[in-house]
Amino acid sequence: MNNIDFFFNGETNHIFILGNCLEKLKEIPDESVDCVFTSPPYWQMRKYDLSSNGTVHLGDEKDYRDFVKNLADIFDEVKRVLKKTGSLWLNLGDKYYNKNLMGIPWRVAIELQDRGWILRNAVIWDQMKGTQSAKDRLRDVYEHIFHFVKQKKYHYDHDAIRIKPKKKPRKSNGTLVSATGVSGVKYRKQITESKDLSEQEKANALQALDSTLLSMKQGEIVDFRMTIRGYQRTFHSNNKKVSGRAKELADKGFYILKMGAKGFLPSDIWRIVPEDKWRKDAHYAVFPEELLLAPIQATCPENGIVLDPFSGTGSTVCTALKLNRRGIGIDLSENYIELSKKRVLGAVNLFNSV
Ligand SMILES: C[S@@+](CC[C@H](N)C(=O)[O-])C[C@H]1O[C@@H](n2cnc3c(N)ncnc32)[C@H](O)[C@@H]1O
Repeated sequence: MNNIDFFFNGETNHIFILGNCLEKLKEIPDESVDCVFTSPPYWQMRKYDLSSNGTVHLGDEKDYRDFVKNLADIFDEVKRVLKKTGSLWLNLGDKYYNKNLMGIPWRVAIELQDRGWILRNAVIWDQMKGTQSAKDRLRDVYEHIFHFVKQKKYHYDHDAIRIKPKKKPRKSNGTLVSATGVSGVKYRKQITESKDLSEQEKANALQALDSTLLSMKQGEIVDFRMTIRGYQRTFHSNNKKVSGRAKELADKGFYILKMGAKGFLPSDIWRIVPEDKWRKDAHYAVFPEELLLAPIQATCPENGIVLDPFSGTGSTVCTALKLNRRGIGIDLSENYIELSKKRVLGAVNLFNSV
């Protein structure tokens, strides 16, 4: 096997493979996959259907260190099949053991870093509602989604995941104002009356303000904020050594933050309610589609390949196909593989009540 198209047999855009992913990954050619999005079994939380014969499955390890090692071994193999420009998105939940929050997701993330992965984001998936079993601590409502890459330069289409601004600039009393009502009149007055800016700095600030207002008129930006020495302060830090903005303020006397009309990038906190309508007989941890959109759109080019080595009901593959990508799913459970195949063909709707 030397070619991923051969692997796909030229006929299909998806494949589901039954078996242990550590073994089955070995059948996939080197550097052939663009993006991996997956959620392995969590440590000591297994609820899945594994028609097994008493073998210790991933997640069942008595010692969390064995779980971390076993998982990292699988991701070594994922690294081999991932293109140099590829991405791995790893969703993991934590576990209390003897009342102690184990920090399992971070233990795994650090082990992966130690094995050469570069961690680009540790997304907080805020699931908004969580069960409350203990009365002596807060409710747990988030899980992690780590974004790893193999090298410093990788495929990332940030334009594909921009959040479009909801409001646009508009006219108010004959004056153009930004999406949040900023006209620049207050900034112009502050610059002109400033005792902290030199004449040259004032001229530069007024010129920058005019050019920003022109960009807004021309539809290139929808909003802006100006920070002027003596009036506003830097957002994060006033220390020139740690903040580029603080340095700009000290050196030039002002800076301007602009929000482009193309929109802004999502933050690393995602508020997405988990699927709670799925058929409870089918599976326990089905990905909501929304969770998969940005990772696939940003890190897998069209017609590229998305892999989920713990594919469960095939959510990752289904979403990849919807987004005009190809998909490979691997799962240890025959039932889930059969269900995934039907789901992809539209023959099963997981969210129907039974
Ligand atoms: C958290 S679930 C994934 C659910 C999936 N994201 C979905 O949307 O349906 C983890 C899956 O890993 C599978 N699994 C456990 N150990 C495995 C292994 N060694 N190789 C492949 N799959 C495995 C389980 O059968 C289970 O379906």
